[in-house]
Amino acid sequence: MLASRVFARGFASSAFQRGAKVAVLGAAGGIGQPLSLLLKLNPNVDRLALYDIVNTPGVAADISHINTKSHVTGHVGQEQLGEALKDAQVIVIPAGVPRKPGMTRDDLFNTNAGIVKTLAEAAAKHAPKAHLLIIANPVNSTVPIVAEVFKKHGVFDPKRLFGVTTLDVVRASTFVGQTKKTEPENINVHVIGGHSGVTIMPLLSQTGIKFSQEEIDALTNRIQFGGDEVVKAKNGTGSATLSMAQAGARFTDSLLRALSGEKGIVEPTYVKSHVAEKDGVEYFATKVELGTEGVKKIHDIGPINDYEKKLYQAAIPELKKNIAKGVEFVKKN
Ligand code: NAD
Ligand code: LMR
Repeated sequence: MLASRVFARGFASSAFQRGAKVAVLGAAGGIGQPLSLLLKLNPNVDRLALYDIVNTPGVAADISHINTKSHVTGHVGQEQLGEALKDAQVIVIPAGVPRKPGMTRDDLFNTNAGIVKTLAEAAAKHAPKAHLLIIANPVNSTVPIVAEVFKKHGVFDPKRLFGVTTLDVVRASTFVGQTKKTEPENINVHVIGGHSGVTIMPLLSQTGIKFSQEEIDALTNRIQFGGDEVVKAKNGTGSATLSMAQAGARFTDSLLRALSGEKGIVEPTYVKSHVAEKDGVEYFATKVELGTEGVKKIHDIGPINDYEKKLYQAAIPELKKNIAKGVEFVKKN
């Protein structure tokens, strides 16, 4: 049952216009609910479609009472997925299980790969031109899964597929701010690579801030394993949801503003990239300038010191393995 109905607003069929339809897949979950709430508050969202396999009528009814302009619809179960996706410019995917203490993100692969593949197949069919924002872990593998599904359907455009790594950047600002006793909002840390353990590489040398070696070791480790702090503190009930919702809402907002023509918007994100291609890595996060078509310009890594070169060497084999696992999964299934 739909919780409320979509009111079409006459979108131009090709060009993106301010006031987008955004679909959240996994909208009833720990991330999905606060993310949907934040998107309901975003003036650049015109229609908000909330999809999950459970509970979305209630979540949609609740959020729809907020007096912002967007129209909210709830869609539950596979048979309502097509309607949720139809005409979406942006699809955000937090659907999937979270970690428990002792697990790596890769341990989620067996469950989440299938979920993401199913959702990607529906997106390729019902909204092949949408921009896909992948939150579901392991991001290093789920992004290649979506790419392979879209390739199979002949609709893959690398400019429209993003692994959301914003939380790593948000955490990096916070942790550096705490260490240096400065406002975290003013600190910008370029975090590159992927989204798990050693593949998360903060480039502290590019901040222009002076750190002792002890600070660099501690901060690098904390940024790489920040997710584990939350998993441990939640003690078996899940992983980061509220900070992830904020990070996901920030990335979605940046993309929506860029799609509508705002210039100079740059966010680090995990995309199909030339940056580490020479080392056999097809997907990589660096700063990406967003534009009216999605990815506009992928920035290079920039200058890095010997310490960061070692981080890079450690990340490459892991990233390669994670990416190959995603690609293989779609080939075999
Ligand atoms: P959760 O269990 O609270 O919510 C997941 C939701 O997905 C549930 O509502 C569930 O019903 C739904 N779901 C399951 N299968 C589905 C399907 N086939 N179609 C649609 N919905 C489906 O989990 P959570 O805490 O919200 O985390 C979700 C995912 O996000 C996890 O994989 C987690 O590891 C990941 N995550 C990523 C980042 C990041 O930085 N990219 C940060 C935090 C969490
Ligand atoms: C995070 O970084 O918080 C997420 O990827 C969730 C996790 O498993 O740590």
